[in-house]
Amino acid sequence: MASQKSDENCMDSSTEINIPAVPAENNDQSRNDPECSDLDDLLTDSTSYYNNAKKYWSNVSPTVDGMLGGFGSISFIDIRGSEQFLKQLYKQKPAPGRKWALDCGAGIGRISKNLLLPWFDQVDLVEQDEHFCETARKELADFTSKLGTVFNSGLQDFIPEEGRYDIIWAQWVLGHLTDEDAVQFFVRCAKGLARGGMIVIKENFTTSNVVDVDRTDSSVTRPLLQMKQLLKQGNMRVVKEQRQTSFPKELYPVYMLALRPIIKN
Ligand SMILES: C[S@@+](CC[C@H](N)C(=O)[O-])C[C@H]1O[C@@H](n2cnc3c(N)ncnc32)[C@H](O)[C@@H]1O
Repeated sequence: MASQKSDENCMDSSTEINIPAVPAENNDQSRNDPECSDLDDLLTDSTSYYNNAKKYWSNVSPTVDGMLGGFGSISFIDIRGSEQFLKQLYKQKPAPGRKWALDCGAGIGRISKNLLLPWFDQVDLVEQDEHFCETARKELADFTSKLGTVFNSGLQDFIPEEGRYDIIWAQWVLGHLTDEDAVQFFVRCAKGLARGGMIVIKENFTTSNVVDVDRTDSSVTRPLLQMKQLLKQGNMRVVKEQRQTSFPKELYPVYMLALRPIIKN
């Protein structure tokens, strides 16, 4: 699931489906399995999957609490964990630059404001909800010289400019993309990276080999292993992985993964 909700709440409003974590192109097998039909129903029509999420978010208040499903109080710990992770990435060789960052599924700009804008010279945002985009522009008004473009677009349609970004940050949003669109998103992001650049994803993950489906906001929470398979299909390799600490125990485990494109000879 994309928004920050407790595991228990999730079980109230969502369906837990046991899905073998296999590459998307091999997933046809699961389509004959009645256990998987719920996920199939939701994902077969990607237009309504995205429209439903759009409708859900249009009714969410443009606040930190709204962005985090009522868990606004964890924002500080979240940002601190991200900062520490980001610092570690600059010990890697080649280290990413600090010129341009892209905040994906940016909401009202919580991550841009508290993490990316203090760290990078310029930050672009991409967010599907136009009201969140407006709020982000207001929230980030103090950073006008550093704020680049706020793109009002779904990630499934967004094409980053080639070679532009040192860091592409996607947090609590990839559950809103179908497997296929997530893979294509990684492929496009790889092209959008500057030399030495990295993608960072920070998401909820299930603890087992199970995809949790949330019909309310049209999202899925994937097992970490399944995400790694999607990343591989998207031509990305994990260069650093860390679990976020100090979140309330009832929440899904949250992992940060730093990714670089796989260079094929
Ligand atoms: C849980 S909020 C997280 C916002 C922000 N990443 C943060 O951590 O504060 C999820 C955000 O993803 C956006 N979103 C949902 N589906 C999306 C899509 N297909 N493309 C881009 N953004 C999307 C929502 O509008 C919402 O702003």
